[in-house]
Amino acid sequence: MVPMIDLKKQFADIKDEVLTTVTEILESAHYILGPRVSEFEKKVAAYHGVSEAIGVASGTDALHLAVEALGIGDGDEVITTPFTFFATAEAVIYTGATPVFVDIDPETMNIDPAQIEAKITENTKAIIPVHIFGHPADMDRIMAIAKKHKLHVIEDCAQSFGADINGRKTGSFGEVGCFSFYPSKNLGAFGDAGMVTLNDAELVDRIRVLRNHGSKGAYRHESVGFNSRLDELQAGILLVKFKRIDDYNRRRRENAALYNTSISGDVIKPVERPGMTHVYHQYTLRSGQRDRIQQKLREKEISSVVYYPIPLHLQEALSFLDHKKGDFPVAEDAAAKVLSLPMYPELEEKTIKEIAEIINNV
Ligand SMILES: Cc1ncc(COP(=O)(O)O)c(C=O)c1O
Repeated sequence: MVPMIDLKKQFADIKDEVLTTVTEILESAHYILGPRVSEFEKKVAAYHGVSEAIGVASGTDALHLAVEALGIGDGDEVITTPFTFFATAEAVIYTGATPVFVDIDPETMNIDPAQIEAKITENTKAIIPVHIFGHPADMDRIMAIAKKHKLHVIEDCAQSFGADINGRKTGSFGEVGCFSFYPSKNLGAFGDAGMVTLNDAELVDRIRVLRNHGSKGAYRHESVGFNSRLDELQAGILLVKFKRIDDYNRRRRENAALYNTSISGDVIKPVERPGMTHVYHQYTLRSGQRDRIQQKLREKEISSVVYYPIPLHLQEALSFLDHKKGDFPVAEDAAAKVLSLPMYPELEEKTIKEIAEIINNV
């Protein structure tokens, strides 16, 4: 079976280095908030050109702590996209605030900046753009709207580690960038892990305290926080992979380019807007024949996944928001047509060509 991502192969390539690191950490007996967490935080901050990065337990927690630290809660509204993983909205709801959806751009499948202002009310506190599948959202326009209306911007960079707009990395535009190191992400841990990137010193202080039970240490608690720390083992493993992230992303981009030239016919291929670097967390097609394509791939033992079959406004868990079919037609159309193909740095040229041929025959 051709997998969506081949983590066994990736591990085989870095096994010796990972095992050495893991052994060192186990022998050091420093498992929580140790030197590797600090080192990884410094490296990720420098990579993004921001002053700080803070390791947390997951991408979901990164978003939740960001919303919480900005003082957003009951009665507040946060604008985001309905075409994302569920966690983007969950993080808002955890704080008592309400997610307010804005339909997506039909080309990039990211939040459509042209439709944001119509959704701003006196309760709106923030915008959470998601760089879906690794293609940057239109941050210039989103930041301009946020500035005009004095709104916070939290970037959901769970799928976009390494992506940039004219050389500036996603996660460095808004007040907080939120990253996931879920194992299948472009930079993936061997378990759950996440990070926030930011510049504001007060916000840094608040998130560092919030992730550690509202405490700066010595059993003094200035607020009620959370247990949401990045653990030392994951940080050690992530440091090994971080050295390779630009190479991993380069190979993903080469694979996407080969898919682009090999796939022909009546499908919509992913776009890459001028000045933007797509890191292809997913290579996602759209087709009215999506189910048939998926069936043909399955017959040839090739994986493919529908990310995401139900936009957030139609999710049962969010029925309290009182949305109905037709509210966000572009997101609904995407959900009906998207299909993500196998995508990982180690994916072979002949497999890409084989997949393209199956699609072309449909
Ligand atoms: C867009 C998006 N936001 C948030 C998350 C949540 O990250 P995590 O699984 O690390 O909690 C994910 C990934 O899982 C994601 O894809």
